[in-house]
Amino acid sequence: MQGNVRPETMERITTPELAEAFIAEQVKELQEQIGDKKVLLALSGGVDSSVVAALLIKAVGQQLVCVHVNHGLLRKGEPEQVVEVFKNQMNANLIYVDAVDRFLDKLAGVAEPEKKRKIIGAEFIRVFEEEARKLDGIEFLAQGTIYPDILESDDGVKAHHNVGGLPEDLQFELVEPVKLLFKDEVRVVGKALGLPDNMVFRQPFPGPGLGVRCLGAITRDRLEAVRESDAILREEFAKNGLEGKVWQYFTAIPDFKGVGIKDGKRTFEYPVFIRAVNTKDAMTATVEDVPFELLQHITKRITTEVENVNRVLYDLTPKPSATIEWE
Ligand code: XMP
Repeated sequence: MQGNVRPETMERITTPELAEAFIAEQVKELQEQIGDKKVLLALSGGVDSSVVAALLIKAVGQQLVCVHVNHGLLRKGEPEQVVEVFKNQMNANLIYVDAVDRFLDKLAGVAEPEKKRKIIGAEFIRVFEEEARKLDGIEFLAQGTIYPDILESDDGVKAHHNVGGLPEDLQFELVEPVKLLFKDEVRVVGKALGLPDNMVFRQPFPGPGLGVRCLGAITRDRLEAVRESDAILREEFAKNGLEGKVWQYFTAIPDFKGVGIKDGKRTFEYPVFIRAVNTKDAMTATVEDVPFELLQHITKRITTEVENVNRVLYDLTPKPSATIEWE
């Protein structure tokens, strides 16, 4: 796909038929661009990189090398789903990198949110670079750039992109098959490519992942508690018809404990914050009116099923004055 400007004549992809036509055209273009060369892709499991992976698998099969970096800050079940969908079901050439200890060691003792973000971003590039250096004959780098990324950046480059920032001697030709698509179109294409609904329609998830929801300096006990409480929240929202209705919902854990009582014994454990918000563009947000009974049920589950937690709070603050994330 040439150029960074969406032609005015380009029809919005809203139906499976339009998606199929886009896929057929892209597969042909990708085959022409790539020939018999190899392509590298950082596959996070997010919508954009997953759709790019599925398109490239269709176009060039095993010539695509996907690298999935598990930095330990993904939600429960996400790394497993990437392996299941892409390696087991789509037979992708997938390299799974367990970098959990590496990331957590680098983050140990770092409390400042922007420092945490920088460390996570920089370490991601380092891990990806190491994997890229182990491979021979890679000529292309695929990226899940979408049209809003181009529109939002001054120079037409996805500034916050995962793999931007690779060193000079590791520069590849870019392959960006969905760069002229809006998010809703990427989802329609993803569905037509056979990706699972919970991958295609998933709620926004920040690049630094649970790292910015385990507030302050990340510790393994709180990180696990965030992951487990988030999984309970998602399960309950799905069961109660809120999945797909609420724009973004998650849990966060601060770095202080409070006193509680369990089985007649005094406890000193962490609180969990629940956040559930609706927005159009993430610039402002309103709080979802979650039924009180459901909040009580979720509280019961989190305080009985999640270790090191004795209290649950619901965040009632819109944006502004709060941001959506806590960090
Ligand atoms: P805030 O917290 O600024 O969030 O109201 C607005 C939206 O952006 C997401 N967010 C991030 N996404 N990297 C990302 O890729 C980040 O560092 C980051 N911080 C916040 C947030 O989840 C929400 O959807």
